[in-house]
Amino acid sequence: MADTKIVAMCGKGGVGKTSISALMIKKLSESNSNKILAIDADPAVGLATSLGIQVRKTVDDIRKDLIVKIRKGDSPGNRDTLKLLDYEVFDALEEHDGFALLAIGRPEDEGCFCRVNSLLKEIIGDLAHRFDIVVIDGEAGIEQINRRVMKTVDHLVLVSDTSAKGLGVANTIALVASDKKAVDFKSMGLVLNRVRSEAEVRDIRGRTDLEIYGWLTDDDTIRDLDFRGESLTAMPESSPNLGIISDILKKMNLVA
Ligand SMILES: Nc1ncnc2c1ncn2[C@@H]1O[C@H](COP(=O)(O)OP(=O)(O)OP(=O)(O)O)[C@@H](O)[C@H]1O
Ligand SMILES: [Mg+2]
Repeated sequence: MADTKIVAMCGKGGVGKTSISALMIKKLSESNSNKILAIDADPAVGLATSLGIQVRKTVDDIRKDLIVKIRKGDSPGNRDTLKLLDYEVFDALEEHDGFALLAIGRPEDEGCFCRVNSLLKEIIGDLAHRFDIVVIDGEAGIEQINRRVMKTVDHLVLVSDTSAKGLGVANTIALVASDKKAVDFKSMGLVLNRVRSEAEVRDIRGRTDLEIYGWLTDDDTIRDLDFRGESLTAMPESSPNLGIISDILKKMNLVA
């Protein structure tokens, strides 16, 4: 599909990237007939957990298996390697109601298997383009998304809570990202999380040049679902924060 839209989440640790990714995927998978891919690029596979999915195999498991073969000297030939990796990545996809999920797993171990890494990135890229919308839940930085998942994204979503530290990290990522070397993106915006009052948002507007896509409030339902280790797809439709997620998706032209 030529017009795949790729959304990537970045921001300081613990600000709500995974929760917001999960809620976006819930909304996207309900709202239209688009094919949705969730990519869990957090080594702790938090997104899978927040979507109630148990991951059988990560991209890094595939990578490690192949490296063991290469080290033993029984690596398949070039063309067979590509075929094998392609099959394995496809097999690692977890199909769910209205979306599929791919988990990337742990960062690379020592030793550069650059060819394996770049083949895998190519395969992830090809796979992503079979979907209409891809949501990538990353670690804090964007370098890791570039290095391990995707070079080009459409929407870079910087997530922050209302803390000065969270906003500082979002502003720094925006600055690093703006030279487009770290990651190539078409638009960038800020989503605030755990907001307690509009006054906080007004204040934050004065401390960032970023467009604010929207803000979620501090939410006991998110907290309780996470407390019980339950999927955020169980958020009730009446939840105000789900409405806010829909508005943010509209702002990014991902839903009508
Ligand atoms: N709007 C909210 N209201 C209440 N609790 C929230 C909200 N958003 C997130 N949380 C809680 O904050 C914690 C961190 O959220 P989350 O895991 O989504 O952040 P993260 O940015 O993905 O963290 P990490 O950097 O570790 O991956 C979780 O326990 C979650 O339940
Ligand atoms: Mg997370």
